[in-house]
Amino acid sequence: MKLKISKTKQEVALNFSRYLAILIASKDTVHIALSGGSTPKIVFDELAANFQEDIDWKGVHLYWGDERCVVPTNADSNYKMTDEHLISKIQIPKKNIHRIKGENDSEYEARRYAELLIKKLPRLEGIPRFDLVILGMGDDGHTASIFPHEIALWHSPRLCEVAIHPDSGQKRVSITGQVINQAKAVAFLVTGENKADKLDEILNKKGDFEKYPASLVAPQSANLVWFLDAAAAAKIKTNQS
Ligand code: 6PG
Repeated sequence: MKLKISKTKQEVALNFSRYLAILIASKDTVHIALSGGSTPKIVFDELAANFQEDIDWKGVHLYWGDERCVVPTNADSNYKMTDEHLISKIQIPKKNIHRIKGENDSEYEARRYAELLIKKLPRLEGIPRFDLVILGMGDDGHTASIFPHEIALWHSPRLCEVAIHPDSGQKRVSITGQVINQAKAVAFLVTGENKADKLDEILNKKGDFEKYPASLVAPQSANLVWFLDAAAAAKIKTNQS
């Protein structure tokens, strides 16, 4: 596990974009699961504004780790956010975009997306293997759309599950723990002081840290990087940067 702590959110975006550019340059075909949330939005803006020359998107396939069950034109849609901030601004073939269809019946979509992952991705031990899964962490310790009150979904034998947001009751389709932990690499993007307490518990293994889904992220490849800003990392004791 590696920590990459940057001073500001903007620097997190820059450092992650550099990491992504190197990863994409290393292979002809790269399968990446994206996340929703505020930090990816800044990253997408950085990629669109400053990495046009550095990244050839032709061999990149984009998927989502989770999606809100809404139509793709809804303001809540992770696809919509990604389209506005990244996809519409880069040269990527349409056939490389594999969105979770939030407008479909959620149970149907969880099954359909699982089949799509089986079809499109290389597999290890029968489980689809992303080159990179990008994750955020909520201030309640959730990741993808696996929330603490439904932590059992993390351990599901299925590749995708239907989750319910604890406050809004909104349905989400999310990949499960076995898919996340089978990835060749996992990168967390976490910024802001409201994340500091949970990061302290999870990274310093304090108290009931195991009740937070984000604490269960432990790829078999051991290739896990936490991209944090100083505010989020305020309570972590480390010499790394
Ligand atoms: C989503 C996410 C979710 C997100 C976290 C962190 O669709 O909401 O994929 O897991 O990454 O809630 O979001 P922020 O970066 O906005 O804090």
